[in-house]
Amino acid sequence: MLRRLHNDQPDTFAFTPANQAWAEAQMTKYPEGRQASAIIPLLWRAQEQEGWLTRPAIEHVSEMLGLAYIRGLEVATFYFMFQLQPVGSIAHIQVCGTTSCMICGAEDLIGICKDKIAKNPHQLSEDGKFSWEEVECLGACSNAPMAQIGKDYYEDLTADRFTELLEELAAGKVPTPGPQNGRYASEPLGGLTSLTEHESGRTRYNASAQLATDIGDTVKRIDGTEVPLLTPWQGKAANTGKKPAKAKRDDMMPPSGPDGAQAGRTKAETAANRARGDASDQVSEVEGEVPEAQAKAKPARGSVAPEPKTRAKAQSCEAPPAAGKKPRTMSAPRKAGADDLKLIKGVGPKLEDLLNSMGFFHFDQIAKWGQDELAWVDQNLEGFKGRASRDSWVDQAEKLARGEETEFSAKAAKDRR
Ligand code: FES
Repeated sequence: MLRRLHNDQPDTFAFTPANQAWAEAQMTKYPEGRQASAIIPLLWRAQEQEGWLTRPAIEHVSEMLGLAYIRGLEVATFYFMFQLQPVGSIAHIQVCGTTSCMICGAEDLIGICKDKIAKNPHQLSEDGKFSWEEVECLGACSNAPMAQIGKDYYEDLTADRFTELLEELAAGKVPTPGPQNGRYASEPLGGLTSLTEHESGRTRYNASAQLATDIGDTVKRIDGTEVPLLTPWQGKAANTGKKPAKAKRDDMMPPSGPDGAQAGRTKAETAANRARGDASDQVSEVEGEVPEAQAKAKPARGSVAPEPKTRAKAQSCEAPPAAGKKPRTMSAPRKAGADDLKLIKGVGPKLEDLLNSMGFFHFDQIAKWGQDELAWVDQNLEGFKGRASRDSWVDQAEKLARGEETEFSAKAAKDRR
């Protein structure tokens, strides 16, 4: 399948402050000069934040890692875990169409996608909520047919159950992942025939589905506040806010080895787990405490789920609810017309449209945002969360509202001449 960058790209990309800190921390895991090894987690985090991987995001990550853009592009276009075009605002459905799943009914599932989402793969549904594609074997063949929805696997699907899943997701619910026909894991439909003594201590769902349920981030955008920034490999120097040394541009090879392969469930889950906070190799710096990311790490299929006590502790570390207060908005611009919000650095045509649709047309409106209002706007810039504070829109808008120029607006005006 041809994997190309989408025609319609945003102007810029920036990680949210929390995701930026997380990304910089990931880079410190590798020896000096080997920061390119962090490319998959960083691209994945960019995708988790925005929903899909934009060209500016690939370039931003490449710059962070000191890579030529083409090296970032090579990785992003190789792995189908990276979405190169906008995906449904609720979920992107990846239906396995390989042998086991095909024999067991994948064609029916794909037919439902065509019927209920969009005729073609990677096409958004009319309401923009869903998109779908057929993918190669995801390594859950014993639970065929299956689909990956967001970060989790939905297995043992039937056409009816798959339709219900889509309806539940559309209604804002997050269905429980794992087998959908009553099976616990991959045991015979009639139940276990051996190792039955292990049945007594098991969790409600199998380890993978249980932890996915506990985490609940299957189809959620990640702005970084959900995952604590832990850098135990740096010892006491961790979390000082010190930036890692800038990687030397283009002197590193793309990743290889375990991080450089995608086929198979274990590897897909590993990537997802890493993206969920690289929890698998992190330990708490405080003895006895379990960091949220560590508690959330989804164990490999068949491994032992965390002790209930541990999970309870981890759940007490939930991220605080988003704060903020909606600023005053206008139903239309003033008679003289709307200001050109694209003169604010970080605002492209799409963001300008979004801001207008939210009721913001003028520099002086933005200049008046206080901390609470800014937080609200940051949270509600769908697809661009955190952009307002990251690019200091209020400071820029204050100057522009006074009729002054900013460095960016001066350059933009010059470019237009
Ligand atoms: S054939 Fe579908 S998961 Fe392997």
